[in-house]
This record gives sequence, C-alpha cells and structure tokens, in this order.
Amino acid sequence: VNAVRGSSAPRLSRGDSLRFTASQMLPLFLRGLFTRRPRWSALLDRVQSDPQGVALVRGFRQRYGGDYLWLTMSGKPTLLVLHADGIRQVLDASPVKFGPPDLKVKGLSHFQPDAVTVSVGDAWRRRRSFSDAVLASGTAVHPHATEFLQVIESVTAPMTARDTLEVRWGDMHGAFRAITAGVVFGRAVESESVIAQLDALMSRANLLVGSGDTPQRQRFHDSIRARITDPAAGGLAALACPHLTPDDPIPVVGQVPQWLFAMKDTLAANCTNALALLASHPEAQARARAEAAAYRPDDAGSVGGMAFIEGSLRDAMRLWPTTPLVVRRALADTKVAGHAVPAGAQVLIHNGYNHRNPDWTPEPDRFHPEMWRQGRWDYRFNYMSNGPQACGGRELALFIGTAMLARLLQHHEWALVRPSLDPARPMPYALNTATVALTARRSPPAAPSSPRRTAASPH
Ligand code: HEM
Repeated sequence: VNAVRGSSAPRLSRGDSLRFTASQMLPLFLRGLFTRRPRWSALLDRVQSDPQGVALVRGFRQRYGGDYLWLTMSGKPTLLVLHADGIRQVLDASPVKFGPPDLKVKGLSHFQPDAVTVSVGDAWRRRRSFSDAVLASGTAVHPHATEFLQVIESVTAPMTARDTLEVRWGDMHGAFRAITAGVVFGRAVESESVIAQLDALMSRANLLVGSGDTPQRQRFHDSIRARITDPAAGGLAALACPHLTPDDPIPVVGQVPQWLFAMKDTLAANCTNALALLASHPEAQARARAEAAAYRPDDAGSVGGMAFIEGSLRDAMRLWPTTPLVVRRALADTKVAGHAVPAGAQVLIHNGYNHRNPDWTPEPDRFHPEMWRQGRWDYRFNYMSNGPQACGGRELALFIGTAMLARLLQHHEWALVRPSLDPARPMPYALNTATVALTARRSPPAAPSSPRRTAASPH
C-alpha cells in the first residue's frame, strides 16, 4: 500500500485506529447496521456520550494536523477526507472511480443484492435511471404527490382528530410503516406483510454472516413482484410496473426494498427527531405552525413553500445524521486532492464530525432550521449524500416528511416529554429516537406569517 500511496497524508497510530474502531465501528455494528437493535442501543447510549465521534475526529485533526488522514477501518487502509474539496471529488467520482465497501455489499445482499446503491458501471446507470424516473428525483413535487398526501391523511386523520395526543417513537414508526405501504404500493394493496418480511431480512443482515441468497429473500422478492403487478397497485409500484420485463435487466424488484426501508425507518426517525426539536424550541415551533396553517391535503403545491418545516427536517438530519459515515472503496488506483489512493483502499466521509464542524456551521450545536435553502445542496453536509449517487429519494423524502410534520403541527401544539432538549443549551451529540415521547394539545392554526428574510447562508 505504501508504494502506491505516495501521499503525505498523515497516518493514525495503531492505537488511534483502534480507538476509532472501538468507538465508531464496533458501536455501529452493535447498534445494528441495517435495523436498530434496541437493547444494544440502550446500553451504548448510557456509556457513549459522543457516538458521532465529534470530539474524537476533532482531536485527530488537531494532533495529526490535516484534513486527510489515513486510518485502518474494517482491516482496510482508509483515507478520512475532512476537506470540502476532497469530499466533492469523491462523491462526484462515485460510482465510476469509487464503489460500495465490501461490508455494505455483504449486508445488503440479504435483502437487496441488486440495489442501485451497491451497483457500479452500466448496471448502476440503468438502475439509477429507472429509480430516478419512478422517484422523480430532482423534482420538488412528485407527479403522484396528491395521492401521497391522501395516504398521509388516511394515516394521520384518526390521530389528529383527538384534542390531546401522546405520541412515542413507536407511534411515529407505525404511522410511517402505513404511509410507506401506501406510497410504495398504493392504498388498495395489502403490503404490511411485505414490510414485515423486510424487517426479518434486515435483522439477519445486521449479523453480516452467511449467504444472502436465501429462500426468505426469494419469497420477499416474489411478494414485491406480486404487488407491483397487482392491477389495484398504485403509488410508486404503478410507475415501476411498466419497467418489469421477463428477464428484468434493471432489475425492478431489487430497487423496491431501498424505498421501503428508507421511508419506513430512515424518514420516520428523522421526522421524529425534527418533531422533537420543534416541540422543544418554542420560537421555531411557532414559526413552523404558522407555515403549517397553509397545509391542504388535497393540494400538493401547499407543501412546496414550507421552507422552515423542510429546514427543520434537514437540520435534524444535520444534528443527528442517520447515515453517520459515507464509505467508498477505490475501484482502481486513483487520487483524492493529490493523495494517491490505491485500488481497494477505502475513503471515509465523516458526517458526524462534518455536520458539527464550527468552520462550516456557526454554533453547530444549535438547531438552525433557517440555514437551509430549498432545492440547494451542499457537499459538506451529506445526510442525504451528494453527487451522482446522492439519495435518489431526496425530494420525495423531504416532501413526505414536510407534509407529515405540517399535518401534525397544523392543529396541535407539541411538547417534548422525553428526552430532555434544552434550547438554551447545545444539542447533544446523540439523540436516541427510540426514547422520544411527545404530547400535543389542540390549538388553533397559527396565523400564517409573512415570509421573513433570514441571514444569507451558503446552503
Ligand atoms: C430522510 C430519509 C432519507 C435519508 C436520510 C436518506 C439518505 C441516503 C443516503 C445518505 C444515501 C447514500 C448512501 C451512500 O451512497 O452511501 C441514500 C441513497 C439512496 N436513497 Fe435515500 N435517504 C432517505 C430516504 C429515501 C427514500 C424515501 C427513498 C426512496 C423512496 C430513497 C432512495 C434512495 C436511493 C435509491 C439511493 C441510492 C442512490 C444510488 O446509489 O445511486 N431514500 N439515501
């Protein structure tokens, strides 16, 4: 490796690489790489005050003096890239020069071996263009957005009909499972059972052992295919169906698991975190509620202008990124910002540290919903990644999340019961979404505010 590396990037001592593995990689594995393990997460929450490794990486950066540092991760030489130029180079060159790391390929093989996110070359291009077409990537309002709002309405109406609410993570997660089923397959098709199949496969994937090619995976994919081809199918399935062919070169079925878990788990967690932030920041909640007053479940356009609510969701993802590390593997010898990276070496983008870097966000530990500009993306913040392989569901997820938050905020005022978040103090490095408990009481929709001007921001 040294011979090809030929770069001046400092290399972490063996002890520091071990510290990185012990405090970053091992806990990620124990908490569950693909689906959360509640017991391990609860235990680790008690002992880990900085699971994102903010202080750890800050210390490395100061001691070794550089924005590019070599360390050993999963037994492989790994270039930690902390500079915006290097991050942009890596993400812009994915997946041509950088592909998925081996662990990701192995884990995902249990439920989505053909997913675009573990594809390279021509397969990636075809899968990505299919996925982009169905998800309407890059389009703020999906062509089927009104149908999605109806799904959200049918799930939230019983909840929001009450004058007082008690909502825990389990309730939010349950609501998002139902929303996901409706958005992905349409409301007329039973699909909660497919989601249950996915849960079982993802728990197995957490172990990173054994072959992913199992009868259970086959049955799961068969269940997806049956629903895509169901004449009653709606939602994304109706858009995906025309792409199904007998030899399925894309393959269509293989993309659906990503949509399911990213919506039912990832989006659910981020919306819950955003609601917890709003519930604990009275001024921000007042502003979000003023925006939510304009929400109309029959008008997808009413969601489009909700910059503050969308910003709240985005800032929840900045503070507690659900993808704390973005990892790539060099497909051939290459360079990042002049540092030679040999084929097979890994490159690491550390969202946990980057998102709290005070050079990039003034007062990074505060809640800043106003710092985000709709439709604008910044390579320093990769909670939904950037470049050709950025999250294909960015706009769809922001739309559904914003609509859901608007619906919940429109007629209710929220308070955070657990955990405690004090707006006068820095937001903690960790928020255990599974412990979130909220209450809400009916309160008339706030008067729509006149759009305020906010301080100029690069994002
Ligand atoms: C708040 C919710 C979400 C977050 C935080 C999120 C985040 C991400 C991130 C960080 C990646 C890049 C992973 C990597 O390259 O290592 C990604 C990829 C992807 N996401 Fe999302 N995602 C979310 C919701 C969704 C939804 C709802 C969908 C689809 C309905 C979706 C579809 C995709 C797809 C297809 C890719 C793979 C893109 C490619 O490799 O070309 N995501 N997402």
